[in-house]
Amino acid sequence: MPLPICYLNGTYQPLAEARISPLDRAFLFADAVYEVLPIYGSRPFRLREHLDRLNRSLAGIRMSAPLSHADWAEICRDLISRNAAVDAYLYLQITRGAELGRNHAWPEGLKPTLFAYVSASEPLPPSFMDQGVAAVTAADTRWARRDIKSTALLANILLKKLAADAGAFETIMLENGELTEGSSTTVHVIRDGVIYTPPNGHHILPGTTRDVVGELAARLQLRSESRRVTESELRTADEIWLAFATRGVLPVTQLDGAAIGNGKPGPLFERISAAFADYTRELAGTPAL
Ligand SMILES: Cc1ncc(COP(=O)(O)O)c(C=O)c1O
Repeated sequence: MPLPICYLNGTYQPLAEARISPLDRAFLFADAVYEVLPIYGSRPFRLREHLDRLNRSLAGIRMSAPLSHADWAEICRDLISRNAAVDAYLYLQITRGAELGRNHAWPEGLKPTLFAYVSASEPLPPSFMDQGVAAVTAADTRWARRDIKSTALLANILLKKLAADAGAFETIMLENGELTEGSSTTVHVIRDGVIYTPPNGHHILPGTTRDVVGELAARLQLRSESRRVTESELRTADEIWLAFATRGVLPVTQLDGAAIGNGKPGPLFERISAAFADYTRELAGTPAL
């Protein structure tokens, strides 16, 4: 559930009263980028990495960063304290701003719209971790710059709805016989004790949680490799994991109705998930940046 106080263009105000222009280019063209980052125990998780990706997304749409990392850290701290947020996530968005002309080629010098709010994290249904979740597959119908975290998410939401229609949690996308990613998650495929995830590039979003998984795997002395994954490797995986900022790592135990492994979360999932929980506790009380 969204918490009551948001940040909009330099001021803190009730989210219920926050207003932007209908001529904002985010409304007209989805001309905007965003980030979502978790807050554990009132502390933002991987703030620097999210802000680095935000700046790369801005550069990808030819915008310069309107705020520094330190400015965002302050906004994040203020939103957490004004809303007494404990376990939550922060959403932030930068749009190119409003203009009268509805020009496809934007005029220079627009004033960006800056928006951020926090939402309390609802507890996960315990079955998600104990039993795993179901996923379906579909062709990846998105544009060619999926590394830009843009609010132009129409393809992603249509794809996610396919999962919801099938009573599943996620849609895992395939392109030219290979795995790309989930509609809002990075996908890891575990085979013979090795964790595989497709290499970063323009065709997927460089997930922040994926990097955490890589670091934790190294700590646990598990082998992980970034390489292309074929559809048949996905379908015959021992384990499949979804990684995403708001929930960490979740096991997929059914794909298009077929069991993955023995249909239960696998042994490596149990280890990575415990390491993830330990890591968030380790960070408690340390500086956010
Ligand atoms: C398309 C897509 N891929 C991957 C991810 C995972 O990224 P992160 O771990 O930074 O949340 C997301 C997150 O929303 C996403 O939308």
